[in-house]
Amino acid sequence: MIGICVPSELPKALVEYFEQSRVALALASAEGDNHLVLVNAPFSRLTGFEPEDVVGHNCRMLQRDAANVEPRARLREFLARPTQPNVRTPIVNFRKDGTPFVNLLYMSRLNTIDGRTRYIFASQFDVSRSQPELLADYDAQLAATLGRLVPIAGDAGIVIEGTLLTIANSAAIVAQAKMMLANLESTPDV
Ligand SMILES: Cc1cc2nc3c(=O)[nH]c(=O)nc-3n(C[C@H](O)[C@H](O)[C@H](O)COP(=O)(O)O)c2cc1C
Repeated sequence: MIGICVPSELPKALVEYFEQSRVALALASAEGDNHLVLVNAPFSRLTGFEPEDVVGHNCRMLQRDAANVEPRARLREFLARPTQPNVRTPIVNFRKDGTPFVNLLYMSRLNTIDGRTRYIFASQFDVSRSQPELLADYDAQLAATLGRLVPIAGDAGIVIEGTLLTIANSAAIVAQAKMMLANLESTPDV
C-alpha cells in the first residue's frame, strides 16, 4: 500500500523521501490553516489515519477535544514566529479508533532560499507506549532523517531551518508521558 497522497506541485524527491522514511512524517502548507499535504505510511500506522482521511485538513484533528493548553500555545508560538526554527512538545492525541496516546511532536520549517516558509515539516512518536531506549532510537532515526532531507530539499530550492532539538533525558520524557496517559485514561473527559 502506498501511504502517500501526492499533490502535483510537491518536489518528487521530497515525496520519495517521505515514502522511504521509517519514522512518521507529515508535511503541511505554510499558508492559511496549515492543511496537511503529505503524510507517510508510518504516520498512518501510528495514528490509524490514511492520507485520504487527513490530507487537506489541519493535524489538530488528532487532538479531538483534549485541552492541550500549554502544548498548543507552544505550537502556535512557533507557527507565528518565522525566526523560530523548530519546536518539540508532547501533546495528547487520539488514534482514529479513539485510543489516546501522548505524541512527541517535532516541527520545523522548510524555507525558500529567500527565507519565506514554504512548508511545515513534522514528525510524530508515541512516547506514552515507549521505553527510553526506543525513544533514543527514534531520536537518532529522526536526526538521520533530517540529515538526509538537507540535500533533497536543497535541490528543490528549499532550506531546512535549525537542527534537531534532541531529547536530553528520554527516561524522564517517557515516564512523564506514561503518567499523562494514565491520568487521561482514568478521567476520559480531560
Ligand atoms: C505539519 C504539521 C503537523 C502537525 N502534526 C500534529 C500532530 O501530529 N498532532 C497534533 O496534535 N498537532 C499537530 N500539529 C499542530 C496543529 O496542527 C496546530 O498547529 C496546533 O494544534 C496549534 O494550533 P491550534 O491551537 O490552532 O490548534 C501539526 C501541525 C503541522 C503544521
